[in-house]
Amino acid sequence: MADRDTWVSSLGFVLASVGSAAGLGNVWRFPWLTAENGGSAFLVVYLLVVVGVGVPGLLAEFVLGRRGRQTPIGAFRSLIGSKWGSALGAFNVVTTLAILSFYSVVGGWILRYTLASPTGAYFAQPQQYFGAMGFGPAAVGFHLAFLGIVAGIVFFGVDRGIERVSKVMLPAIAVLLVGLAAWTATQPGTAAGYEYYLRFDAGYLAANLPSVLGPAAGQALFALSAVAGTLLTYASYIDDDTSLPRDTLAIAISNTFVGVLAGLVVIPLLFSQGVDPGGGGPGALFVALAGAFGSLPGGPVVATAFFGTVLLAAVTSGISLLEVPVATLVDTYGVPRRRATLLVSLLLAVTGGALALSNGAFQFVSGTLADLLLSIGLLAFLAVAGWLLPTDSVAEFRTGAGRFAPLAGSWIAIVGWVLPTVVLFSLTSSVAPLVGATLGLGGRAL
Ligand code: PHE
Repeated sequence: MADRDTWVSSLGFVLASVGSAAGLGNVWRFPWLTAENGGSAFLVVYLLVVVGVGVPGLLAEFVLGRRGRQTPIGAFRSLIGSKWGSALGAFNVVTTLAILSFYSVVGGWILRYTLASPTGAYFAQPQQYFGAMGFGPAAVGFHLAFLGIVAGIVFFGVDRGIERVSKVMLPAIAVLLVGLAAWTATQPGTAAGYEYYLRFDAGYLAANLPSVLGPAAGQALFALSAVAGTLLTYASYIDDDTSLPRDTLAIAISNTFVGVLAGLVVIPLLFSQGVDPGGGGPGALFVALAGAFGSLPGGPVVATAFFGTVLLAAVTSGISLLEVPVATLVDTYGVPRRRATLLVSLLLAVTGGALALSNGAFQFVSGTLADLLLSIGLLAFLAVAGWLLPTDSVAEFRTGAGRFAPLAGSWIAIVGWVLPTVVLFSLTSSVAPLVGATLGLGGRAL
């Protein structure tokens, strides 16, 4: 086997992983879900679920990734044998291809908003690029452009492409978000938004805990990228000195920070414009924001900064998704990286292009199918780490773990028993709409 790529530094690995995690899930899905699920009540449950479910789940993926030292197919083959290993690894590859197919369409919409923001071209009609109006030949074009950016980075490999770009983009995202949050605080009429977002409402929480728990768990896993084999692949490029528990914590904390900051921008801004953030679904939130920028002082500048930030976040997630099928071709089938990037991109150009033309297909893949693939994939990860290879997993956890090493025992208990229960829970809630959609009852709104 040819020499594998590696991270130049441990910081590069952490930044690239935060880049994978912090994406549209954080900047777009998180504020929307928070608004839909009672503001502060959701925020509190989400934070608890990130600690209790997200962190141990992510750690399982890192442990298997470094143990297997390969992309999903090779890693699972070496861990659990060729037959089941190939199936499981292939399942990860399919998952990342499916997610990136719709992710690239949304990325294309964001790219379009970013380019049009300096002139405020869409301010009068903010809905024209997004959601239901966002499908058609132009959407295909912008999807291809977004895919081109992502492929252009993956083309250069782990250290010279992904790591280098993450080291620049991640700090940029953080600085832009802090700036936007500070600017939002100076706007009139935002007080109600902060109150809604940050006031801890114990009564609401007690009354709604069951209904908030499911979406919070799903969001925590999606937002951490802790499910699809992307971070398994990233972890395959690190060495034994790295403390996996420490890095997992660093990644989860930074990712949550990005999500909360995004909420501090989006929710008060919508309140200041008299828009109810809970109404109309996630696509509507972006449209409402785009409209809000039109009536704010310095609108074009703020809009450019906002959509530019979202674009950067989407790109750093997109590259982690593309890296999985590309690196699999490189590792398992010996295809040179550049050719592999080209081949996978061509495939995605077609699958994403199809979704950019069809609202119905897009909604099915981005909602129901993605949830389903992620839940099944995670269950498989947990089964391997918690049930099939608990001894190896504990040993790998302890390697380089330093003062975190004594936690290995509790961690494996959580991975083997607590998390499977949670996943089964979220699986049931994604199978139900699938059945509903098949029966023609309508899929999830964008
Ligand atoms: N975590 C990414 C986001 O929040 C999405 C993602 C999921 C990326 C799974 C990779 C794997 O946008």
